[in-house]
Amino acid sequence: MSKKPFYITTPIYYPSDRLHIGHAYCTTIADSIARYKRLSGYDVFFLTGSDEHGQKIQRKAEEANTTPIAYVDKIVDSFKHLWEKLDISNDDFIRTTERRHHELVQAVFQKIYDQGDIYKAEYEGWYCTPCETFWMERQLTDGKCPDCGRPVEIVKEESYFFRMSKYQERLLKFIEENPEFIQPVSRRNEMINFIKGGLEDLCVSRTTFDWGIPVPFDTKHVVYVWFDALTNYITAAGYLDDREKFAKYWPADIHLVGKEIVRFHSIIWPVILMALDIELPKKVYGHGWLVVEGDKMSKSKGNVIDPLALIDEFGADAIRYFLLREITLGLDGNFSRDALISRINADLANDLGNLLHRSLSMIGRFNGGIIEAAGEAEPVDQDLIELAQNTAAVYQKYMDQQDINGALKAVWALIGRTNKYIDETGPWALAKDPAKKGRLNTVLYNLAEVLRIVSILISPFMPQTSPKIWAQLGIAANFADVQLADAKAWGRIEACTAIAKAEPIFPRIEEAPVNEAQAQPAEAIAVPAPQPEAEAAPDTPEITIDEFAKVDLRVAKVLAAEKVKKADKLLLLTVDLGTEQRTIISGIAKHYEPEQLVGQNVVMVVNLKPAKIRGIESRGMVLAASCDDKLQLVTADMPAGSKVK
Ligand code: MSP
Repeated sequence: MSKKPFYITTPIYYPSDRLHIGHAYCTTIADSIARYKRLSGYDVFFLTGSDEHGQKIQRKAEEANTTPIAYVDKIVDSFKHLWEKLDISNDDFIRTTERRHHELVQAVFQKIYDQGDIYKAEYEGWYCTPCETFWMERQLTDGKCPDCGRPVEIVKEESYFFRMSKYQERLLKFIEENPEFIQPVSRRNEMINFIKGGLEDLCVSRTTFDWGIPVPFDTKHVVYVWFDALTNYITAAGYLDDREKFAKYWPADIHLVGKEIVRFHSIIWPVILMALDIELPKKVYGHGWLVVEGDKMSKSKGNVIDPLALIDEFGADAIRYFLLREITLGLDGNFSRDALISRINADLANDLGNLLHRSLSMIGRFNGGIIEAAGEAEPVDQDLIELAQNTAAVYQKYMDQQDINGALKAVWALIGRTNKYIDETGPWALAKDPAKKGRLNTVLYNLAEVLRIVSILISPFMPQTSPKIWAQLGIAANFADVQLADAKAWGRIEACTAIAKAEPIFPRIEEAPVNEAQAQPAEAIAVPAPQPEAEAAPDTPEITIDEFAKVDLRVAKVLAAEKVKKADKLLLLTVDLGTEQRTIISGIAKHYEPEQLVGQNVVMVVNLKPAKIRGIESRGMVLAASCDDKLQLVTADMPAGSKVK
């Protein structure tokens, strides 16, 4: 059976400058949707590219003392390099300076002119060069561009006009009859109001510069850059030169664009298509903007974030995950280094990374590195298995509505549940009792299976991570052949699979977030650890409430725990205090397995003087109750950082 086609596009970016993290955001969303569709068995055509003509580029080239083509060639190379580094899986990259596009634009312009929908007249009005947009006097905001707020220029020239007005009612009817066409709904309402306000004929040629595609029948005019740019979507789909391809992929399933260019895609573009008698795209999705500390990125503010530097520092998957998880599609979102590091540490290093690491190290320690067939089952297993199997369906529902955030939350709910399953089933205790070997095998098998499912579900978002998890689990099948259906099935890992060496997939980023706690001198807040086994003598001298108040007790969440080499009593804990993370050494290794501690909210003294134990600086002490040779940590079901008094 032939696969169903799916065509998704990003906007084609202006090569006036290098791309920033906001552009990377848009392309990452499109890439994740494209990868998800491939995973779901679709024949995907994913297009991105560059929008190379127009006055702005011509001026930039002049400023750089070079030709427009030499100028854009260099920048377009940097686009392609970025998409490679970010693991973007586009099937084509269109440049509007390519011959295939030049020919198409001229053919389309000629056809619309021949049928009388393009006519010549005099244009007098305002033009915003950075946005390459015409405005009427009444549309300006304080005399400036209503979109970008920059100055506009008066333009008076003989031009060709496109009869948009003729299509107004047809367009309105189409939008009203196709509620899915413009998403999200807020953008749809905005567009309906705009059209109801009356569509003016659009000026579609310029004569005051020549960096563009000449109007075929009047070559002193070049085609307006938006008319040129929008048609890229049908050039690449083969409208002129590959009928079979065009019949397969057109109409496009999604044009993913930023919110400020929804208007071009849901008004000008559909009218061009109507004039050409071509079906309209199924959906125009307007995503929000990525801002930096609440501010629009701009060179003059010096707050432009370079995605390449971030990829080099944190890896492509971590950046992709952050962009997709932190920002709800359709809304604006904030970029900050602190938020990025928190996400990496909490979601990737802690939740996902620890689940993988704990599971693999237990399979290693308790089962000699072999995933054995499941043995005895208990009701708690069924609960986990049902959630694991349902997660793919819930995820699919979200992804089919472009709710990437919802899909990621569903996967992380499964990860969270599985971490809890480890605590509930206590494999370290099962491992101590040979009679419980069957039960231990079940628990370890279930952990491996969840990880297999998780690796499939995260693959559209973190394409490098999934095959790594797969390889660590020792699964022989090629990850490239995986389908979404494999994430709905349970029990695919074969018994006796030998796992590979466990390597951390997302190392914790040890950089204190910039916050108030960090601003204090370290000594004032730092503390060491050990002697948790010290028992209180019944005749301890009395202290005053003020003396007691000097002890700063807090709830701390254990993020990671491991044995200290060559010290059989000591564990090295990484804990989260809400505002910062600490490393502490605790003498509880005889009473707790490291895996048991991760995720627990313990009580700790945070203002004890730091101490160096086995060369490691310990900054704090966890509290434990002890009696004879029994010891139990004091825990509190309260958020990390809560004060204990
Ligand atoms: N060339 C036109 C698009 C033509 S499509 C037929 C254009 N180019 S652009 O380079 O200025 O912008 C491309 C896309 O990047 C737009 O969708 C825009 O919304 C997006 N972004 C630019 N800055 C952004 C953020 N800070 N955040 C998110 N997206 C942003 O417009």
